Amino acid sequence: MAAVASHIACCVPSVCVSSGSLEATPTYGSAEIRIPGGAFKFSRLTDCSGQKSRPASSLRIHAVQTSKPELVREANERLQSGEHGVNYHHPDAGKDGYAFFMPTMSLIGVGSLNAAGAQISELGFKKALIVTDKVLLKVGAVDSVIKVLDQIGVQYAIYDGTEPNPTDIQVDEGLALLKKEGCDFIVSFGGGSPHDCAKAIGVLATNGGKIHDYEGLNKTKKSMLPLVAVNTTAGTAAELTRFSIITDTKRHVKMAIIDWRVTPTIAVDDPTLMIGMPKSLTAATGMDALTHAIEAYVSTISNPVTDASALHAMKLIKTYLRDAVNDGKNLKARDMMSYAEFLAGMAFNSASLGYVHAMAHQLGGIYNLPHGVCNAVLLPVVQEFNSSKVPHLFIDIAEAFGYNVGEDEEKAVKTVLAEIRSLSKDVGIPKNLNELGVKPEDFELLADNAMKDACGFTNPRAPTKEEVVELFRKAYEQ
Ligand SMILES: NC(=O)c1ccc[n+]([C@@H]2O[C@H](COP(=O)([O-])OP(=O)(O)OC[C@H]3O[C@@H](n4cnc5c(N)ncnc54)[C@H](O)[C@@H]3O)[C@@H](O)[C@H]2O)c1
Ligand SMILES: [Fe+2]
Repeated sequence: MAAVASHIACCVPSVCVSSGSLEATPTYGSAEIRIPGGAFKFSRLTDCSGQKSRPASSLRIHAVQTSKPELVREANERLQSGEHGVNYHHPDAGKDGYAFFMPTMSLIGVGSLNAAGAQISELGFKKALIVTDKVLLKVGAVDSVIKVLDQIGVQYAIYDGTEPNPTDIQVDEGLALLKKEGCDFIVSFGGGSPHDCAKAIGVLATNGGKIHDYEGLNKTKKSMLPLVAVNTTAGTAAELTRFSIITDTKRHVKMAIIDWRVTPTIAVDDPTLMIGMPKSLTAATGMDALTHAIEAYVSTISNPVTDASALHAMKLIKTYLRDAVNDGKNLKARDMMSYAEFLAGMAFNSASLGYVHAMAHQLGGIYNLPHGVCNAVLLPVVQEFNSSKVPHLFIDIAEAFGYNVGEDEEKAVKTVLAEIRSLSKDVGIPKNLNELGVKPEDFELLADNAMKDACGFTNPRAPTKEEVVELFRKAYEQ
């Protein structure tokens, strides 16, 4: 081992091999190392004291002599399951590369709402449809955006009919108002519900038809109306994503419209707009963001950019969510949670999600429960299920949560699940689906619909319907 470490310490991280005498020769430019012993890669590096571990993004080790076949075998087994840092676990990724979807401009931090005024002014729009909800209008929160529009001389009409888990009916109402008022762009103001409703209105304004026509992936033919999404929760990240989740009131199913054309033009995340969130909303939306980060990280189509975003989001949420819930006026905590939800959004917008969301959408569709609460309750149960397929990824998640578990996958899984449960408990999330009023007799229907939800397609372990029913049962009883 010493020979390996001393040969390569100058150019790449040192490599620890528990036994065997391997010789290493560094290839400086590509960080490849040739070691006698057969061909294999190390996906995770540990420094020789065994104290630190970290993903290796570019290190490849080619061994050319099989002095320790069990090492080669172990390395190959790891390769097949896919390990972050070296071998991303999405076999088809190489064919067409990756696509990243982001708003044209994202304004973040204290004062960003004011900055949005100048940008809207430059785009030259005449009249906005402000899409929001009755609560935010009643408490005067919408005044902040009205003030900005007044300052730049842009007219507006207000649609305040959006409700949590927005529906196809609300989309039609908003569209009718947009047409009647002759609006040429949309400003959504609120959490995920107004943003999603606004996206759907924007799609129909230019593409025509019913919102149901656009369920699925990239069904639009024309750009939606320009959208400035001013966010007030932290959260869904709907202000930046290419997703719009609309409830079909006939089927009681939340439709996922996933389309690069529903990405807002400008996203605004000003934490001063989030100060007013009550504890329960802060908790639910924060746990939604954590779910985005974890599901994106274990997704079968994650990549180095989404991983970096996801891990940092987890770190910030672990550090600041409790503070944001305990003291809503803590601007630092609000600011960091706003960055966290944005990062988690960047991650899942391209890496997609998993079975937590596939199942949570059904609970939202049938019982109209808060999205973040459903996610929080399902998160540990689904991740425990996933852990048998991608246990190594839990080492990274444990590290993001601030725990050093070394290379112990079992310990990592236990640590992550315990941390999720403790965070949920501390911020006041109900313990199980029983407390949320979910009925066991609906599990079959919920599972049937979850199996069809596009969010589940990138879950690292594909469950059978019986397994999904079992997951609902576990989340009911935990
Ligand atoms: N499009 C996406 O990428 C995406 C991702 C995840 C979730 N979603 C969807 O987003 C919706 C949930 O959005 P949400 O959790 O942000 O909540 P929300 O928009 O449904 O709002 C919930 C409640 O909080 C209130 N509220 C919002 N901001 C507030 C503030 N600053 N202070 C006080 N009250 C405030 C609202 O008036 C409302 O009554 C769900 O329908 C979910 O499916 C969308
Ligand atoms: Fe979500």
